[in-house]
Amino acid sequence: MDLCLTLLLICLCSQGATKAEVTEDQSTPLVPLIPSQPIEEGESSTSEPLASTDVATKELAAILTSNKTSLDVNETGDCQSASQSPKSQQAIAAAVQNLGVQLLQNLETTPEHPNIIISPLSISLALSQLALGAKNETEELLMHHLHENAVPCYHRSLRDVLAQLKKRDLQIATRIFLRQGFEAKHKFVSESQLFYGSEPAVLESLQQINEWVENATNGRMTDFLFTLPPNLLLMLINAVHFKGEWKARFDPNFTSRGVFYLDDLHMVDVDVMEDAKHQLSCFADNELEAQVARFPFTKLMSLLVVMPESGQVNVSALCAKLNISDLYERLPKETAVQVKVPKFKLEYSQELQEVLTKLGLGEMFLNPNLADIADGPLLVSSVMHKSSMEINEDGAEAAAATNIVISRAAIPVFHLTKPFFFVLMDDVTQIPIFMGVINNPNPGAPILQKGQFGSKDKMGFSYDKDHMSSFGGPK
Ligand SMILES: *[C@@H]1O[C@H](CO)[C@@H](O)[C@H](O)[C@H]1NC(C)=O
Ligand SMILES: *[C@@H]1O[C@H](CO)[C@@H](O)[C@H](O)[C@H]1NC(C)=O
Ligand SMILES: *[C@@H]1O[C@H](CO)[C@@H](O)[C@H](O)[C@H]1NC(C)=O
Ligand SMILES: *[C@@H]1O[C@H](CO)[C@@H](O)[C@H](O)[C@H]1NC(C)=O
Ligand SMILES: *[C@@H]1O[C@H](CO)[C@@H](O)[C@H](O)[C@H]1NC(C)=O
Ligand SMILES: *[C@@H]1O[C@H](CO)[C@@H](O)[C@H](O)[C@H]1NC(C)=O
Ligand SMILES: *[C@@H]1O[C@H](CO)[C@@H](O)[C@H](O)[C@H]1NC(C)=O
Repeated sequence: MDLCLTLLLICLCSQGATKAEVTEDQSTPLVPLIPSQPIEEGESSTSEPLASTDVATKELAAILTSNKTSLDVNETGDCQSASQSPKSQQAIAAAVQNLGVQLLQNLETTPEHPNIIISPLSISLALSQLALGAKNETEELLMHHLHENAVPCYHRSLRDVLAQLKKRDLQIATRIFLRQGFEAKHKFVSESQLFYGSEPAVLESLQQINEWVENATNGRMTDFLFTLPPNLLLMLINAVHFKGEWKARFDPNFTSRGVFYLDDLHMVDVDVMEDAKHQLSCFADNELEAQVARFPFTKLMSLLVVMPESGQVNVSALCAKLNISDLYERLPKETAVQVKVPKFKLEYSQELQEVLTKLGLGEMFLNPNLADIADGPLLVSSVMHKSSMEINEDGAEAAAATNIVISRAAIPVFHLTKPFFFVLMDDVTQIPIFMGVINNPNPGAPILQKGQFGSKDKMGFSYDKDHMSSFGGPK
């Protein structure tokens, strides 16, 4: 049984003037090397090069091979020690947590799209890389949203945290794709490489992007993009892929059809994994009025879930009170708990322009100062985010799981059968890698009315207080 998550984020920068003020033949003097035809998507562009080789390609080749790194930060002295201090690591974690919670608070679920899955890490990483190319007020705006100016030597600190995360079951890949003929500033390219390992490459085709994404996610994500925007100049893209094994696996022999309660009246059928005696750290939090549990993976990562007693995740109410690090630190010692967890495989895809604008980053999409990437009018035209999350079983590996059946009354239970919030986090740095809300783990299934169901309700779930009181310990 393992949990598999992939996610990636893409940032498209395009020419600032996309409207009628600047027509195609009116060459923008500050970006002299841009070809006049837009990049076309589809088969025609997949094999043929988009433009003839020119100065820019040579320049890119030089960047690719040069060792030069001209840095803004003071690499000696203070910055080096500051970026590796526990304090700056905590500040980065708090910043990424904060950005994730703010995004979640401003993204909406609907009956058609009941779930949200995002990677705060991936989004922070993309915005951080963008900040390397921003100047003056735009850089200030981005840095303020990324860490509220609380982290000294921010880029270096994030780089050090990323290096630490890469030691887990986590892959983080980044790349800059540059349109043929577009020349990004050397300093931006080399800093992107230095801090975020982001190699530059000439953009050839849509297929090339999708193949890179597929490879960077171990084949988990295919067909990431459907088109390339015509004004595209460069893309900052990153992919995060996690594949971990539960420390305590579930025996697939105990997986069966069960139900998940959407609300007081409605439910759906799902596959439910069950363990009669699962080592679990969990508690009921009075302030959040929710059950909290931590499912650890083998390598220093955990899935933290928060399931409100009300049966609904009120994101704004939850986020207002939520302090992930605090919850995490209050987790008690593991004890044997009877556990039920739904199996699911979900995808989420979202253009983040609207939510980032709501958070106050609208300037990025309107009239930002990206003078460190290139001169001339540039703006961010899209921040596309896609993720998938799967909780499933590996039959052979699951065979080792415990097969002891204890009666339900004898031990506490944790039944994840109502909408919940989750965060997949790194135990050491407390960086939230993934985060989200699951309101319906089986969105395709017909929704059933409660009561219409009777004996088919295998979950043995009841809405009375017994359920909650049995949670923290045996009665
Ligand atoms: C890169 O570094 C190597 C050794 O450190 C040096 O031999 C080479 O000339 C450098 N290349 C450039 C383009 O500076
Ligand atoms: C870099 O930091 C060191 C130690 O804090 C300081 O002495 C030096 O002046 C700094 N150099 C620059 C260029 O800021
Ligand atoms: C950034 O601000 C400085 C002074 O505050 C100014 O001299 C410079 O021209 C500005 N740069 C850009 C690209 O706007
Ligand atoms: C595919 O990804 C692996 C690491 O995940 C990397 O080493 C390899 O170079 C990538 N291949 C291509 C064609 O990008
Ligand atoms: C969510 O909580 C907020 C504040 O706690 C409240 O105003 C709002 O009505 C709640 N929304 C729902 C759908 O219950
Ligand atoms: C969250 O909790 C941690 C640990 O208890 C604490 O250090 C931090 O200040 C809290 N953050 C906020 C915003 O309250
Ligand atoms: C699961 O069931 C199969 C078939 O009944 C059995 O062969 C296998 O040993 C069982 N696995 C465990 C871990 O009990």
